[in-house]
Amino acid sequence: MAALLHADFPTFDKLPAQKGLPDPLVMLDGTRVTTKVQWVNERRPELKKLFQHYMYGEFPPPVKVEATVEHTDPQALGGKATLKDITLTLGGKHKVHLLLVVPNKRSGPAPVFVGLNFAGNHAALPDKAIRLPTTWMYGNRKGVKNNRATDEGRGAETDTWAIEQTIERGFAVALVYSGDIEPDDKDTRRGVQAVFDQGKSPTAWGTIAAWAWGIHRVLDYLVTLPEIDARRIVVVGHSRLGKTALLAGAFDERIAVVMPHQAGMGGTAPNRGTVGESVKRINTSFPHWFNGNYKLFNDAPAKLPFDQHCLVALCAPRPVLFTNAQEDSWANPDGQFEMLQAADPVFRFLGAGGMEAKSRPELGTLSDGTLGYWIRAGKHSMNRDDWKIFAQYAAKHLKK
Ligand code: GCU
Repeated sequence: MAALLHADFPTFDKLPAQKGLPDPLVMLDGTRVTTKVQWVNERRPELKKLFQHYMYGEFPPPVKVEATVEHTDPQALGGKATLKDITLTLGGKHKVHLLLVVPNKRSGPAPVFVGLNFAGNHAALPDKAIRLPTTWMYGNRKGVKNNRATDEGRGAETDTWAIEQTIERGFAVALVYSGDIEPDDKDTRRGVQAVFDQGKSPTAWGTIAAWAWGIHRVLDYLVTLPEIDARRIVVVGHSRLGKTALLAGAFDERIAVVMPHQAGMGGTAPNRGTVGESVKRINTSFPHWFNGNYKLFNDAPAKLPFDQHCLVALCAPRPVLFTNAQEDSWANPDGQFEMLQAADPVFRFLGAGGMEAKSRPELGTLSDGTLGYWIRAGKHSMNRDDWKIFAQYAAKHLKK
């Protein structure tokens, strides 16, 4: 049968509790998926609708993206790269700043890492030409005064982004400050969620969907550039922006490799998990990240007709790497490994390989199959060593 329309999805009380994980290869009405065509034409669209309906909220259709290059430095990073600071105008209404750094040494269009950041593009490199964000900023980031960026924050997250190291490995890097798309403020919507307002419907988009949709609009522009290889786009993000990276990758097949880093609940960790953050906790601390319906599951995550392995399955056959840190139990690293294992049957079904590790890999040992996993010692953070793994995994999976 054809995928159900949102309106036909069961109300919360009609959903059965499923203690185990829902089978990604069984439709909501119980029909088993037995052919690739069925997966592509029926189950995949159904899962996309289910995630929008019960969890993330609705993705609006694309809007026109206009670009203005504000500044070009062909000799950035000591001559290693060309740096551009670009304004993207979405739907003629909403502006975001894009930082694009492309290696000068390359034989053709470059593969690219695309990601949202927490602290502004100016924090990712100590370069005075990069514009400061003009919108709301997280108060705990260096140089932020009264929730606004100042010059003091320049270069503060150079190690988090390790751009020069990635450029040396032949990748371009494209960054946008998440708050340029939608400020992460639980009380006020003033980014794309305000501009392309969906009202108070229980399926109206939450901020994670808004960020992911913003990434899709950045891609609309990147794929038009001769210096970028549109078939070699990697999406990466840390924590809440890792949840965003996975959602963006699951919903957009232009993304070739998906890398959520320490994403945890609401992204890579199971809703049904018992370690770290819970559905109730995330909905209480960050109610704006998800839609209204998701709150219904606070005390009943087993009633969700999917779990996060289904979001991973939506990426198939494209490679997905989950990366973690040992001390970051809030993000449930073991539960994340289980999500990859539970997505594996879909990858195998599509002939795409899958999870090679039979149990969670040892610290510092990359399992680099189509479903990849890596966990290092240490805490919740993103650093140069993480970027070495990102580049290693991407280089293996992105074929020219
Ligand atoms: C909080 C939140 C997590 C989130 C993290 C982050 O810890 O509970 O869900 O991933 O912030 O974004 O850093």
